[in-house]
Amino acid sequence: MSEHFDVHGGARLVGEVEVVGAKNSVLKLMAAALLAEGTTTITNCPQILDVPLMADVLRSVGCEVVIDGGTATITTPAELSHRADSAAMGKLRASVCVLGPLVGRLKKAIVALPGGDAIGQRPLDMHQSGLRKLGATTTIEHGCVVADAETLQGAQVWLDFPSVGATENILMAAVLAEGTTVIDNAAREPEIVDICTMLTEMGAKIEGAGTSTLTVHGVETLHPTEHRVIGDRIVGATWAFAAVMTRGDLTVTGVNPHHLDLVLEKLRHAGAEITTFDEKGFRVVQHDRPKSVDFVTLPYPGFATDLQPFAVALSAVSEGTAMITENLYEARFRFIEEMMRLSADARTDGHHAVVRGVEQLSSAPVWASDIRAGAGLVLAGLCADSVTEVWDVFHIDRGYPHFVENLNRLGAQIQRVAGDPDRA
Ligand code: UD1
Repeated sequence: MSEHFDVHGGARLVGEVEVVGAKNSVLKLMAAALLAEGTTTITNCPQILDVPLMADVLRSVGCEVVIDGGTATITTPAELSHRADSAAMGKLRASVCVLGPLVGRLKKAIVALPGGDAIGQRPLDMHQSGLRKLGATTTIEHGCVVADAETLQGAQVWLDFPSVGATENILMAAVLAEGTTVIDNAAREPEIVDICTMLTEMGAKIEGAGTSTLTVHGVETLHPTEHRVIGDRIVGATWAFAAVMTRGDLTVTGVNPHHLDLVLEKLRHAGAEITTFDEKGFRVVQHDRPKSVDFVTLPYPGFATDLQPFAVALSAVSEGTAMITENLYEARFRFIEEMMRLSADARTDGHHAVVRGVEQLSSAPVWASDIRAGAGLVLAGLCADSVTEVWDVFHIDRGYPHFVENLNRLGAQIQRVAGDPDRA
C-alpha cells in the first residue's frame, strides 16, 4: 500500500535537530569492510532503508552483518564470493561500490548493475576504465559488470570527470594492488575523505585525500577497524534550507559546517543569519522573506546537485528571480514540474531553470521522484496555503531518518497517511 504525507502550510520551524551519519558515506564504508577479513564496526549509521539493503548485498557475498540501531557490525570471511548479483543490488546505487573491493581482494567480480534514484543517466564507463588501467578486463554481461584480473598493478588513472563512485571503486581496488596508483581529477567530496580515513585506519597508504590527486601505495592486506561515519551534509543543508524557507530558527548539530561553506554563504545572500560552531554544527535564523540567489551545481566544493531541488524550492518562494544551472544530472529538473503543480513560476531550458518567486505556493497533490526531490516538495508544502499531499514518500524514507517526527517536533504539522492515490 502507498503512503503519502499531508503537509500543512504555514509552519515556522524553530528548535534543534541532530544529523546522523551520511547515507552516501555509510554505504561505501560498508563496502570497504569487504577488504579485510574479520569484524569491522561502523558507528553513527543513519537508520534508513539503504543500510539494511546494503547489508543484504554484503550477506550475498558471504559476510555476516548485524545492524543494531546506529551500529553496523560486518564480519567478512576469508573466503568471499565474487558474485554480487542478488535482488538487493538493483535497489540502490551504492551497491556498485562492492565492485572495487571485490576486484581488490579476489581479482574478479560479477556485480549486477545498480539501481537507485531516477535522476538521469548514470553510466559506469569511468569505473570500468579505471579498473582496466589497473590490469582488469571488464565487460557488461547479462546485466552485470564482469571484471577479471591476473594481478592488479598500480597505474596512473585520469578521470574525465571527478566522479564520486568511480573514484571510490578505483581507490578500493588500488589499496590492494601491487605498486602505486595515482588517481587524477579524483572527486574531493567529504565522503571520499571519510572513506580514505577508514581505509587508512585499516592499514591502507593513501595521500591527497580531499584533493584532486589521490596517491595510493598498495599493501598486501588490510585489517578490520571501528569507524564513525561523518555527518550527512546533504541532510544538514536540507534543514538549513528549511529554516530559511519557513523564516525559522534552526540549530543543526552532528554535521561539519565546513562541508557546507558554499551552501551557507548562498543562504547568507538570501538573508539568513548563520552562526557556525567549529566542526559541530550551525544555526540558521531567517527573519524576512528570503531574497533570490542564483545556484550552479558542480562537484564538491561546488554546490551539490543533491541540493538543487532545495535551491528551486527556496527560489520559488523568494523575492526576485533566480537562475539555477544543473551540470550533473539532466533529469533532475523533472522536480520542477511538480513544483509547478504548487503554482511555482518556473521555466527550464536545457541545463538552466529560471524561477520567479511568488508570495505563497498553492497546495496540490505532488509526487516525489527521488530522495531529494521528495524532501524538497515537503519543504515547499510547508510554504503553501493549505494541505499539500506528497506521494511516493518511500523515496524520502531512503534518505531522511525520522523526517516527519523531526519536522513535527520543530513546529510543522505533517501526517503520514496510508492509502492509494486517487491520481487522474
Ligand atoms: C554520488 C551520490 C549522488 C550524487 C552524486 C554527485 C552516492 C550513492 N550517490 O552518485 O547522491 O548526486 O554522487 O554528487 O554516493 N558519470 C559518467 N561515467 C561514470 C560515472 C559517472 O559519465 O563512469 C557521470 C554521471 O552520469 C554524472 C556525473 O558523472 O553526470 C557524476 O556522477 P558520480 O559523481 O559518479 O555520481 P555517483 O557516484 O553515481
